[in-house]
Amino acid sequence: MSKVRAVFVCNECGEESLKWQGQCPSCGEWNSLRSFQMPRSGGAPGAAARSPGSRGRGTGATLSRSLTELSVEEEPRVSTGIGELDRVLGGGIVAGSVILLGGDPGIGKSTLLLQASDALSRSVVTLYATGEESLRQVSLRARRLGVGGAADNGPEARERLQMLAETHVEDVLEEAARRSARLVVIDSIQTMYTSTLEASPGTTSQVRESAAKLVNYAKTTGTAVLIIGHVTKEGVIAGPRILEHMVDTVLYFESDAGSRYRMIRAVKNRFGAANEMGVFAMTEGGLKEVKNPSSIFLSRHPSPVPGSAVTVVREGTRPLLIEVQALVDDAQGLNARRVTLGLEQNRLALLLAVLHRHGGVSSAGQDVFVNVVGGVRIAETAADLPTLLAVLSSLRSRPLVQGLVCFGEVGLAGEIRPVPYGEERLREAAKHGFARAVVARANVPRKPPEGLEVVGVERLGEALEAVF
Ligand code: TYD
Ligand code: MG
Repeated sequence: MSKVRAVFVCNECGEESLKWQGQCPSCGEWNSLRSFQMPRSGGAPGAAARSPGSRGRGTGATLSRSLTELSVEEEPRVSTGIGELDRVLGGGIVAGSVILLGGDPGIGKSTLLLQASDALSRSVVTLYATGEESLRQVSLRARRLGVGGAADNGPEARERLQMLAETHVEDVLEEAARRSARLVVIDSIQTMYTSTLEASPGTTSQVRESAAKLVNYAKTTGTAVLIIGHVTKEGVIAGPRILEHMVDTVLYFESDAGSRYRMIRAVKNRFGAANEMGVFAMTEGGLKEVKNPSSIFLSRHPSPVPGSAVTVVREGTRPLLIEVQALVDDAQGLNARRVTLGLEQNRLALLLAVLHRHGGVSSAGQDVFVNVVGGVRIAETAADLPTLLAVLSSLRSRPLVQGLVCFGEVGLAGEIRPVPYGEERLREAAKHGFARAVVARANVPRKPPEGLEVVGVERLGEALEAVF
């Protein structure tokens, strides 16, 4: 079987096509499709089942199996020693998997993976290949982080964590093979190059081909590969989006400007839930886990202020208390502005229409700004009700009652709809001392959590009465 298959990838949007076309069918750009050799998966156990490239014609060696014959064992995983990172990975690193960690320069990617490599090297031989810094710089950083020389590591563990300053992919992989590394960290893909191409490192084709080599190595040897990728201004991993297609897991490192908190989100994960979020704080001694993130996304106002509503969203598999803030002010120009941060703008427009039609409150001639505190992005309709209430609260310059939490989807007919995991959200609110919850009637549990009064509403009008 040939080791590669050809696909055509748009330089602009990363869309894959099976045949060459003059115009990208996805983004409409002309002459942007480039041929690219995608590795077929090799002999790694389980790889054949995962790789899109392995679906094709069988060779003599490939046998079909009935579903019941196939093992249903969980993929074995290695813990990174960092609970929040394990969480976004779906419970640790799967052998032979390729993970991409993307994020802005300086956000903490190297720091995190150095810390993780340290913990991982206690159970597997780990190779950390850097093209970003000299070994001296890395070792200085390692010392500051207490990595590699910590008392509980011992000489044996130090032996298992191998540092390499190298940008030639073939040399990195040769070293990985020589050391029998089970985990390879690449810092970063933009500094790597393969000698099969003449292009310089960081170019689209080098990034792609280097990554292809790494993926191929992972799949043929069962070695896990963690690839760091810098993100460009446009918010995509520099080089083509195809990196996202090639790897098993894509993690993005994000932060609110100026904040010391960092969030890692799984945007794709073949071995776990997508959208899972891990939270860290950047400290003097590296990244520290934030195990109870609810507390950091609330700005604790000494007394209630207008334009603020607290809600419970579900990020991945856990509930999170979040504050939604709104500011409504006389529009300065002819066009009233509707600006959202951390929330979909169309959703706000829709909610304002519902507020007008079913709540009798007009926002015409008013600028409306909505912000989700802490740089969190909400993609859940559970935030409808709190958003609306925050807007109304700002519009009327009246705070919501103290200790209030709310969630619920708002329908176009002005109805308040239930959201999934209502009880879990309410328990989280009670745990953080909230006294009163306004939710859809169907979300009211038979037995509310201790200390929390739960008010069920069906219409927007009822919700407005319950909160002011
Ligand atoms: P780094 O991991 O180098 O970012 P990336 O690899 O994503 O480019 O993180 C660099 C930033 O983190 C830098 O501004 C310094 C800061 N930092 C700390 O605050 N504490 C630490 O212990 C370390 C190692 C870095
Ligand atoms: Mg770095």
